[in-house]
Amino acid sequence: MEGMDNKDSSMENGHASHNNPLALNNSNGENELALPPIIEPKNGIVDITAQQGTTEIFKGTKTETYGYNGSFLGPIIRINKDQTVTFRTKNDLSEPTTFHWHGLEIPGNGDGGPHQVLEPGVTEDVNFTVNQGASTLWFHPHPEGATAEQVYKGLAGLIYIDDENSQEINVPNEYGVNDFPLVFQDRQFTEEKQLNYQAVLNEDGTIGDTLLINGTLNPKLTVGKEKVRLRLLNGSNARNYTFKLNTGDTFQQIATDGGFLNQPTDMKEITLTPGERAEVIVDFSKMDDKTDIALINDEGTTLLPFKIEQKTTSTSKISEKLNDFSVTEEEKNLPVSKKLELFGMGTMVSINGNQFDMNRIDFTQKQGETEIWEIYNKPDMMGGMTHPFHIHGTQFKIVSIDGQEPPLNLKGWKDTVSIEAGQTVKLAVKFNNKGIYMFHCHVLEHEENGMMGQVEVN
Ligand code: C2O
Ligand code: CU
Repeated sequence: MEGMDNKDSSMENGHASHNNPLALNNSNGENELALPPIIEPKNGIVDITAQQGTTEIFKGTKTETYGYNGSFLGPIIRINKDQTVTFRTKNDLSEPTTFHWHGLEIPGNGDGGPHQVLEPGVTEDVNFTVNQGASTLWFHPHPEGATAEQVYKGLAGLIYIDDENSQEINVPNEYGVNDFPLVFQDRQFTEEKQLNYQAVLNEDGTIGDTLLINGTLNPKLTVGKEKVRLRLLNGSNARNYTFKLNTGDTFQQIATDGGFLNQPTDMKEITLTPGERAEVIVDFSKMDDKTDIALINDEGTTLLPFKIEQKTTSTSKISEKLNDFSVTEEEKNLPVSKKLELFGMGTMVSINGNQFDMNRIDFTQKQGETEIWEIYNKPDMMGGMTHPFHIHGTQFKIVSIDGQEPPLNLKGWKDTVSIEAGQTVKLAVKFNNKGIYMFHCHVLEHEENGMMGQVEVN
């Protein structure tokens, strides 16, 4: 079978090759973490242009990259609940692209899936009213056959939604002061320090030995002696990350993909598969500035060292009640309406035995009606691997994982759920808008290889 040749012994664990170690790249010195600019609607309009350029990721070297409103990655689009917005999207690339808003509950014709291609030079307006709570979402391209490569080259940005609640619960929200985005992406650079996707493509998930956070190589982050909010996005094509503090200290998770948890939840570590987000609070107020503190992964590799500065501490106490999320008894008792079986590897991945076909609608669902989707990750001879399962246009609830209630930190709005080989996950899924939406594995090479289907909501 093609694609099997790339496999190595790490296939034995369910995570396939996605946990190959990251190399430390200390030759390049430490760099202060880049912070993307924030853009807000002007007269209701947000301009977003996909473009190409060069970026100095390594000092003195120009790497050819893609970006939104710049040469690499993208800005943070900051919008409010109930606000009516126009995203004025423009394709300045020399190839077709789409603008997909990952996690946004938006009518299907504005979702930016593979049907909504913008040819080079084309501008298109996407109008909608923000109809969901405070959350950290993201956006990236989704053209059939080129999603993985365009993301790899740098097309990814964040969306922050604010609402009344998020202003009242005393979570740190001063951007760049005590509220930081952290977009994690691994890349494999060529000797010339270029991003040559086709040369490093792995059909089971392209990984690289070099970590970039917000596009910064060897980043460090300077923080005050206070509670700091980190908004984590796994924006990698395929790598999973397990985040911890090197001191072994706990931190608090406050949000999942699509909103706040009901209460701050103590965690020693968090695993994010591609597409997933989590917001956490790290309390630096108790640490003195000599503490050698860093975010590390489960192999002990330093991902992000912190420098603690003596700054006036904001004493605000984070509210104990952040949200009122629940899976209702009714939802728990609903019969299963849709069954999905994820299977295969490499170019042979499938959902219910099918590979993606733009002209085939796999499921239908009524607007505003909650249905239970049961997703089974069927193991193969090699054991199988974890698939991050994502549905467009909705925030769903995890009802159960292998028949058990989800852990506390997954009791919140999700749009991407990690499903290990052999696991069965039940989701309560409701679409508030009409249209055709994708569901797929967010290992971008699996998505590209056809581990994707379509649900039509009417
Ligand atoms: Cu993050 Cu179909 O995508
Ligand atoms: Cu997958």
